Amino acid sequence: MIDNIHKWLILRLTLVWLVLSLVVGGLVNYLGHIRLDNHVVNMARAETSHYTADFSAYLSSPSPQTLALFSRTIHTLIEKDNLIVVEFYNADSQKVTEAIKSSAVEIEKRLPKHGTEFTNTSVILCEKLTLGQEIFLRVFVPILDSAGGRSGYLEGIYHAPVDIVAQNQRETLHALILVVVVIFVITLALYPLIIRLNRKLLDYSHILALTNIGMLKVLGSAIAKRDSDTNIHNFRVALYAVRLGEKLHLSNTAMQGLIKGAFLHDVGKIAITDAILLKPGKLTSEEFEIMKTHVSHGRDILYSYDWLKDADEVVRYHHEKFNGSGYPAGLTGEDIPLNARIFAVVDVFDALTSRRPYKEPFSLETSVGIIREARGDHFDPAVADLFLEQAEEFYAEICNENEPLLHGKLEECIKIYFR
Ligand SMILES: [Fe+2]
Repeated sequence: MIDNIHKWLILRLTLVWLVLSLVVGGLVNYLGHIRLDNHVVNMARAETSHYTADFSAYLSSPSPQTLALFSRTIHTLIEKDNLIVVEFYNADSQKVTEAIKSSAVEIEKRLPKHGTEFTNTSVILCEKLTLGQEIFLRVFVPILDSAGGRSGYLEGIYHAPVDIVAQNQRETLHALILVVVVIFVITLALYPLIIRLNRKLLDYSHILALTNIGMLKVLGSAIAKRDSDTNIHNFRVALYAVRLGEKLHLSNTAMQGLIKGAFLHDVGKIAITDAILLKPGKLTSEEFEIMKTHVSHGRDILYSYDWLKDADEVVRYHHEKFNGSGYPAGLTGEDIPLNARIFAVVDVFDALTSRRPYKEPFSLETSVGIIREARGDHFDPAVADLFLEQAEEFYAEICNENEPLLHGKLEECIKIYFR
């Protein structure tokens, strides 16, 4: 049972939002980097193509004059574009010539040296390098002859334009913010839906509880018809038990078991023959032994239904005594479940203060005196003392009220503790 659904839900939805934001945000960031890398690679390839055409022309007719002309061309070209270093190698991997952009001499020195060797591959290779926030690419471009063989290659360093990198980072950041906000809005939209769904579930669960309680009353009434011929004993003991349970600050769960147990405490009497159950005189010891079995019969009846299992403590142990002289197990002290110790006091008090076929009701004073006398022997002294402190108030509220009024009061308790 969740005591504060709002707090529970806010914590979990916040957690879901954070986890989703981290996972999806990380993915967006990763894809942003991939997109930037691809963009830069394409730009670098496009720029190196200006050089490879001229180098192919040189390789087709190499001479000192064409080399000088080619060197002049690449020194002019490199000042205009984003390549900062270009080196040209022949088929034997001997450097033919090179050019370095005048403004990038220092940068070139700070860049990491070769991480990739360009050997016999005939495809363009790119290796990403970073220097602070700036991105560079080491590019290897094969120069192929007419037969498709490699006649040389270009090795260059491409400096990704700062504005392109910054724009890509801005776009990635915007996408990241958008993703986090969208996940937040979706999570926020889920909140009222889940609360509404939870309310519906609670309503259905309450209807189910009411159905079960109806069945509880019918069963309690059936037992009463066999025994005392009235429901009112069940209503009174249930109300006394609730009031004492409230003074003991029982949890809702414990209170539910106490109410169910109060209704069904003598359900096992269904299995006792009329000759014993309705015998007007005192029971013989053999008959009393049979009568004692009503608690085990009660346990057997409830055992098959989960919803009634929490009534078991009262049904099974309501005849136990604090000093160990009760039945069926002869439990002592706090080994007797608290609900059974509570019920033992109120059951005896109601028997004392109500009319029975064999006796007139005792006065409040006499009944209180008998309970006080039995504290520590029959009853848990702490529970009995608390009851005695409130006995006058409980008696005034419950003892002489009619059945419909008691039924109404019990309905109120059920609304509180079974919600
Ligand atoms: Fe009983």
